[in-house]
Amino acid sequence: CGIVGYIGKRDVAPLLLEGLQRLEYRGYDSAGIALHSSGKGGGLKSAKAKGRVRELEARLPKRFAGTTGIAHTRWATHGAPNDVNAHPHLDAEEKVAVVHNGIIDNAAELRTRLTAEGFTFVSDTDTEVLAHLIGRSEAATLEEKVREALRHIEGTYGIAVLHADFPDRIVVARNGSPVVLGIGEKEMFVSSDVAALVSHTRQVVTLDDGEMATLKADDYRTYTTEGSRTSAQPTTVEWEAESYDMGGHDTYMHKEIHEQADAVDRALRGRIDDRFSTVHLGGLNLDAREARAVRRVKILGCGTSYHAGQIGAQMIEELARIPADAEPASEFRYRNPVVDPDTLYIAVSQSGETYDVLAAVQELKRKGARVLGLVNVVGSAIARETDGGIYVHAGPEVCVVSTKCFTNMVVSFGLLALHLGRTRDLSVADGKRILAGLRKLPAQIEEILANEAQIEELAKEYADAKSMMFIGRVRGYPVAREASLKLKEVSYIHAEAYPASELKHGPLALIEPAMPTVAIVPDDELLEKNRAALEEIKARSGRILAVAHSVQEKADHTIVVPKNEHELDAILMGIPLQLFAYYTAKAMGRDIDKPRNLAKSVTVE
Ligand code: G6P
Repeated sequence: CGIVGYIGKRDVAPLLLEGLQRLEYRGYDSAGIALHSSGKGGGLKSAKAKGRVRELEARLPKRFAGTTGIAHTRWATHGAPNDVNAHPHLDAEEKVAVVHNGIIDNAAELRTRLTAEGFTFVSDTDTEVLAHLIGRSEAATLEEKVREALRHIEGTYGIAVLHADFPDRIVVARNGSPVVLGIGEKEMFVSSDVAALVSHTRQVVTLDDGEMATLKADDYRTYTTEGSRTSAQPTTVEWEAESYDMGGHDTYMHKEIHEQADAVDRALRGRIDDRFSTVHLGGLNLDAREARAVRRVKILGCGTSYHAGQIGAQMIEELARIPADAEPASEFRYRNPVVDPDTLYIAVSQSGETYDVLAAVQELKRKGARVLGLVNVVGSAIARETDGGIYVHAGPEVCVVSTKCFTNMVVSFGLLALHLGRTRDLSVADGKRILAGLRKLPAQIEEILANEAQIEELAKEYADAKSMMFIGRVRGYPVAREASLKLKEVSYIHAEAYPASELKHGPLALIEPAMPTVAIVPDDELLEKNRAALEEIKARSGRILAVAHSVQEKADHTIVVPKNEHELDAILMGIPLQLFAYYTAKAMGRDIDKPRNLAKSVTVE
């Protein structure tokens, strides 16, 4: 979900609509705005609509003007995506308007209690309880009213609140769901994401959990939910507003796929140390002695980031010979994991806000573990909660499905693996070889992308499939998993990923002409084994699309990718399949940047 708010002198509705457009990738089930009306009689006015921001825009009432307002775009958790469940939520007297990200765990209980007190609920959302709790408070200030309401709440929230009796301010609060203030000249902004702020101001203040803030047109202050002042110095965000523009591409996905050579270059810049054939990772906070003491590495992430972690674990095992594995953060946190002091934990996340990952980090820290972050968004919650880490420097990623960020995560894992390897048994010569491989990546990515026309043709050819199999072995397996996820997410074609060697233990039963297979076939020590799997599929009349370093005879089609060092091949082999997913979705007329039911950042459990 996304929150945006403004207080100042400008006409607020167009500003909020623009902010919502920028946040739409965070959720797009419904949207809404509330403002302090500058029309006769004043008071709060609101408008909301199911669906996209443009539907809300079409539905704004004629006289809908003011200079203070809040808005929301929603990814449904409690209650279906419809008009009444859209935020903002108002109290019975329509004096209070609330927008909320997160989940109120005790909403059902509070709803029963408030209903017994005579309050009527109009929506099925957990947020509406907040509006009533604030509305019924008899405290003298809006800050006190909000504080009093929050005392009843268990769960996570990022909220922004308007009150008809306090038209000079917006009160916001954070617990587990991001809230960022944007500091302007005689105007203030608030959002759940800097994406909505950067076209107006680069001065931001990120609230911590347990913090609140009051925004007035020419002033802001931050304090804890208990009321003691906190010092919140603004920091400058580096990302340019232009990074959020489409720049001639038809979708962000296409744009971001094409930004990968530059993005990888950024991840490498300033980090290569030729003298010792290693890399500098300034923020790691792990000296050589500590690095040597690591007995295991455990990587935690969700979705695409989890797949990046799987490739990362293999690189760490190969280059540093430290046992390593990756696990979905959501599984890890719920299974009461054994936390081992000699294990290095790494939380990997594009947004740095994914709740399941954040919760895993917090649980680990509580148990005394050392946790590093591999994160894209600078200053995000996971970056701040971890003991150190690596920024992947992919730049802003807007498309819901991750492409350039995935690639930069994998490259960053390559850097970490090299670094850990060089504190152990990886030789100078091997260090040099890997560095040379890393340096080649940007040019090789350009080479892959130059092959776009062939991939487009292939995508059209396979777009009729109801279901697709993706296979790979060892280094190729996580590549297959990520490629199958990409296809599912944007095209809605069912796809399964299997280790190539497991095919014969079951899924081979599915193979027939209507179920094509995408096979990852690197030219490494497993090439012959992979070719045997292609034979098995061909013998069952399966169609095969290979991604390989040379044309594969058994395949119906091959996308040839340039070869790097074996240990780094996984970085490149998935890239043509990002384009494959993109063109398949395009051929099917899908909404590529905003696939149904998904959101870019899931800041709820
Ligand atoms: C959501 C997105 C996925 C993403 C995952 C993890 O589910 O739709 O594309 O991989 O969250 O996000 P993170 O920001 O932690 O990398």
